[in-house]
Amino acid sequence: MRAVDIIAKKRDGVELSDSEIEWLIKAYTNNEIPDYQIAAWLMAVFFDGMTYKETAALTMAMATSGNMVDLNQIPGIKVDKHSTGGVGDTTTLILAPLVAAAGVPVAKMSGRGLGFTGGTIDKLESIPGFNTTLNYHEFITNLESYKIAITGQSAAIAPADGKLYSLRDVTATVESIPLIASSIMSKKIASGADKIVLDVKVGNGAFMKSKAEAIELAKTMVGIGQLVGRETVAILTSMEQPLGAAIGNSLEIKEAISILSGKGEPALREVCLTLGSHMLLLGSKAESYADGYRQLSDLIENKQGLAKFSEFIAAQGGDSSILQDDSKLPQAKFIQEVRSSSQGYVTAINAAQIGYAAMRLGAGREYKGQAIDLAAGVLMHCRVGQTIQPNQPLATIYTNDESRLLEVTSVILEAVQHKDQPAVPLPLFLGIVDKNGYHQ
Ligand code: URA
Ligand code: CA
Repeated sequence: MRAVDIIAKKRDGVELSDSEIEWLIKAYTNNEIPDYQIAAWLMAVFFDGMTYKETAALTMAMATSGNMVDLNQIPGIKVDKHSTGGVGDTTTLILAPLVAAAGVPVAKMSGRGLGFTGGTIDKLESIPGFNTTLNYHEFITNLESYKIAITGQSAAIAPADGKLYSLRDVTATVESIPLIASSIMSKKIASGADKIVLDVKVGNGAFMKSKAEAIELAKTMVGIGQLVGRETVAILTSMEQPLGAAIGNSLEIKEAISILSGKGEPALREVCLTLGSHMLLLGSKAESYADGYRQLSDLIENKQGLAKFSEFIAAQGGDSSILQDDSKLPQAKFIQEVRSSSQGYVTAINAAQIGYAAMRLGAGREYKGQAIDLAAGVLMHCRVGQTIQPNQPLATIYTNDESRLLEVTSVILEAVQHKDQPAVPLPLFLGIVDKNGYHQ
């Protein structure tokens, strides 16, 4: 086979065969095809799209380009969860212990934050002593003993995706639904998930700005799952404002503890219970959605989810006494309230801008590998639909870099928009995509 023929075929809108896609990805992973040919092919895919069959072949070619984690020795159906990325999205830290406490093994490989979105691995590193690089043996042992293990994504998992993603980043080919869908699904499949629950975020703080695009991405990923025998369900959730109140690493650990203690932001709790109920259903630990929802609510009520979180932290070398004393988490030197100047109704909170504010305070990275301030971030005190009074605190900002306080205050004041007329609260759920297609 020759790369140029495959590029021409894609350019001319002809469906590629599984073996052509396999050959291309394998040769690229082995450095047998130069970047410029794959760049041309990616641009052809960007304009012509891919059929579900092609997208599934690309997914499997990337998944099998490195190690495929084998979780067969762990009893039960392994259900993974993935979020397409948002702001104040602490769901994994809450869901993982809850779902594990309900009996579904949670084997997760997570990433770090980049740009205005956070990453689970950074959040966990704000717990003193916590080990985010488990070897295979430790990962399996913890799963067997506690039904929960979370480790950083190793470079040996789907290396073709890593290579392709870097090239997409510099060739303006990131925003392609088949490329995003295969990128996400290849990593989930290589990490050993039997079944997958996806949280597809929609709105100003997400990759997918419109509901129509989000449905298309969700259908593509659910379709890939079906074609490769890994049942997948996608829940569409709103990212028109930060999901939880906390944005920033140790602040989000505190919020996870608060939700697991039966307190905290109701929207975040609701998304966790919804995603978790679907995980229990796929994992055959619930008879119905309502049964899953009740089990998870009970695990919050009786504090068994919190006990599982404590056990999980200790199992990975972390100091679980942070659950009793959160002053052991990294603390910010500068803490300041951002207050409203006038009266009104909150009509919109730009999640991307709030994420940007947290990043400027030190909570996130502007480039890969940048050091971050685990204590930094934003705690929101308002949501869309609420009334605000003059001088009311809208948010509290945390940082160790005093020079950022003024700049970030004005970013937040701009992100929180308010008007004189009452505003309605935003819907949290925009529907679900499963093997029966899209429904509410
Ligand atoms: N997340 C991924 O893992 N891949 C993409 O292409 C986009 C978002
Ligand atoms: Ca299996």
